[in-house]
Amino acid sequence: MVITGYKAKDFRNLQETQFVPDSGLNVIFGENGQGKTNIIESIWMFTGCHSFRTHKCNELVASGKKKAKVYLDFIASGVENEACLTIDSKREFLLNGIEKESPRRFLGEFQSVVFSPSSLSIVQDAPSERRKFIDIAISMIKPAYSAHLLKYSKILANRNALLKQISQGIMTEDMLSVWDEELARIGAKITLYRLNYLDRFSVIVSEIYKEISAGKEQLKLEYVQSSKSFAADEYEMTENIYMALQRNISNDVRRLLTSVGPHKDDIMLKVNDLSARQYASQGQQRSCALSMKLSEAYLIKEATGEYPVILLDDVMSELDETRQHFLLEYLKSRQVFLTCCDISHVTRLGNCKTFRIENGKLID
Ligand SMILES: Nc1ncnc2c1ncn2[C@@H]1O[C@H](COP(=O)(O)OP(=O)(O)O)[C@@H](O)[C@H]1O
Ligand SMILES: [Mg+2]
Repeated sequence: MVITGYKAKDFRNLQETQFVPDSGLNVIFGENGQGKTNIIESIWMFTGCHSFRTHKCNELVASGKKKAKVYLDFIASGVENEACLTIDSKREFLLNGIEKESPRRFLGEFQSVVFSPSSLSIVQDAPSERRKFIDIAISMIKPAYSAHLLKYSKILANRNALLKQISQGIMTEDMLSVWDEELARIGAKITLYRLNYLDRFSVIVSEIYKEISAGKEQLKLEYVQSSKSFAADEYEMTENIYMALQRNISNDVRRLLTSVGPHKDDIMLKVNDLSARQYASQGQQRSCALSMKLSEAYLIKEATGEYPVILLDDVMSELDETRQHFLLEYLKSRQVFLTCCDISHVTRLGNCKTFRIENGKLID
């Protein structure tokens, strides 16, 4: 996956910003608040179909303007593509002149992986961050997965609404079984997708972490199921999740939420057998997040045959020289967009194309 052309119009502070990137390392530098992350964000929109900073479309449109446009030319599987994203109150994707029926239909067309200081939240924050990480990673290589997620969240919302009505005495507990059967059925599919992904992912992530820590430390991943189902197949998993839902009904009615299912699962990260979230140092947590992002990129390559575009937003100054060196060596010959404030803080950049940004404009 290589970007060959980029243009943004009225996307946040990017009034009319365009460039032709190098197929290797591209460095975008400038002071704070000039538009570096805005460029990264606008590129990533073609991967995630919405922003990693906001779900509100109007925040992405330059203030005082009605719509924003981003154009991305990229080569995928040797084929040149022209994509265009229009944002007003909604998002609209065009690929080679043909409009996608919905933004989600663009998933899987353009792959990129972003690593930024907020990537640390995968390690430090609540389980929802790790679920979000794995859900996006799987959706990128298996677009059908996102349809299961959407369906699951709708059923879950219906079940939670029913819990409320039961607690108010409007409905009875036996009404739950319709939703529970559906929740268990789709929940089992989602769990199996995640377990399959983690089978391979955990091997790669351990290898990369070992390299970053020069063989001194070990990172292990473990999927923790809220339903505690250790099933061999989809049928058994469906049964187990259904039973777990049934066991928790009175608890759920009291708390007005569904306490078991993939929406409550977690991925436990362990550095040298200790929980990374609780015990790892800041540096170790950064290495965990970095290993996970690089493994995500690796698995995209394995599944699609193409390495994703790598977006490194403001991370170099947070990495020590050894990790900076590892990262740039590891990403050699990939297309990378790296942002930083002070280019002199990034050591050993080697061959790269540089762009200076000021007030949303690129300056030669
Ligand atoms: N909708 C918007 N309209 C105009 N400017 C915006 C909008 N959203 C953000 N900005 C501006 O974008 C700038 C932040 O850009 P950003 O890419 O995050 O900076 P950095 O270069 O530090 O990464 C700020 O100056 C902010 O005011
Ligand atoms: Mg920034």
